[in-house]
Amino acid sequence: MLRPKSASPLTSLNGCQILALGAGLGVLRGGPLAGAAVEIGAVAQLEQLSPGDCDLVLIDADAFEASALAGMLKALAALRPAPPLLMVGQALPASLVRNVLRLEAADILEAPFSPEQLLAAIQGLLAQAAPAPVTTSGDSRCWAVTGAVGGSGATTITIEIANALAMASGKDRSVCLVDLNLADGAAAAYLGAQPTLRLAEFGNAADRIDSAMLQAFVTPVSKGLDLMAGVRDPTAFDAVGRDAVLRLLEVACECYDWVILDVPRHRRPWTLEALAGCDEVLIISELTVPALLAARAYSDEIEDALGARLRPRIVLNRLASRMFGPAPTMVEAEKALQRKAEAGISSDWEAAAASANLGGPIAQHRPKSKIVKDVQTLVEKLSAQPARRDSPSKAA
Ligand SMILES: Nc1ncnc2c1ncn2[C@@H]1O[C@H](COP(=O)(O)OP(=O)(O)OP(=O)(O)O)[C@@H](O)[C@H]1O
Ligand SMILES: [Mg+2]
Repeated sequence: MLRPKSASPLTSLNGCQILALGAGLGVLRGGPLAGAAVEIGAVAQLEQLSPGDCDLVLIDADAFEASALAGMLKALAALRPAPPLLMVGQALPASLVRNVLRLEAADILEAPFSPEQLLAAIQGLLAQAAPAPVTTSGDSRCWAVTGAVGGSGATTITIEIANALAMASGKDRSVCLVDLNLADGAAAAYLGAQPTLRLAEFGNAADRIDSAMLQAFVTPVSKGLDLMAGVRDPTAFDAVGRDAVLRLLEVACECYDWVILDVPRHRRPWTLEALAGCDEVLIISELTVPALLAARAYSDEIEDALGARLRPRIVLNRLASRMFGPAPTMVEAEKALQRKAEAGISSDWEAAAASANLGGPIAQHRPKSKIVKDVQTLVEKLSAQPARRDSPSKAA
């Protein structure tokens, strides 16, 4: 497999990773593809390709049957984001050309072509695929969201908060949602997005993580929102080092105006340091006695470890009328918590389930849901607070 892509937008082919399909393309290595790392791959490789594995796919259509070419295009179309594709060949059939041009970033080059034409086509595609630069005002803010008990709605609320901030900012790529449930985070599935982060590959080389590399790990969700989420990996919590997680957060805070973390509730070697670098820590609880007691204990543990400067705020989720049996009221809940709750989020199972199934924030699929309004109120209240961190990179 090719190495993950590494560099910022490419203007020459130096360092560019090209997956070439068609043995005849090897001769281009010493010519127009000089400087690029060209791997002559097998057709099956396209099906295993992950976003970020290569910068460009180059296919020699003359080397394959029509059915094999159709399969390759299908595999590429399924990748989100797909690497740019350049297809070269003689007398390419119109149906094939149409399918190639349906891909997000793709071009056709009819043979015979000059080395200059090939280079220009590749550079055009690379420029098209290069992510828009992330610009930050330099005073990024980081909020962590974590659940008091499993299933309390932490991921759902993290997504709605990140989306509300992105909408409010109106800027391109202002918010990054980082799913720190490294083994089996659900944020990508809830958003209908493809996770691309493989932090375990960094081992002890956390220093290699920089802003250019970060761009290979994020999946764009909307104009203002990027997602950083791990590819499912049951060993990830053991395999990923503390330094890699903290470095990733530090770089994310350098790159985005807002970094919103979905933090697993079981403590990891990096948990306290990550939380210490945040402006806000939100503990999501549901309105049951066990969840409220867990929220109180969890909040106390964080406060004991980090000091009163970073008092977690408790958010009560799935507030419903008492139609379906006994549940604590807000007042009773605050008594159990021995503190005031920061906010309440209404229950709306239909909106939450529909959005998870369709893939995307509730604000997109059910904009009139009370969940959206309640999250909006919470976001406005919290963003009006002064930042509590000393510096964006304090997490590291
Ligand atoms: N306000 C709400 N109203 C109705 N359903 C909700 C609400 N918030 C979350 N849910 C639903 O509750 C379930 C659990 O939500 P979610 O996965 O966000 O919880 P979690 O705390 O992240 O869980 P885990 O502990 O597995 O990480 C999901 O089915 C989600 O759609
Ligand atoms: Mg979750």
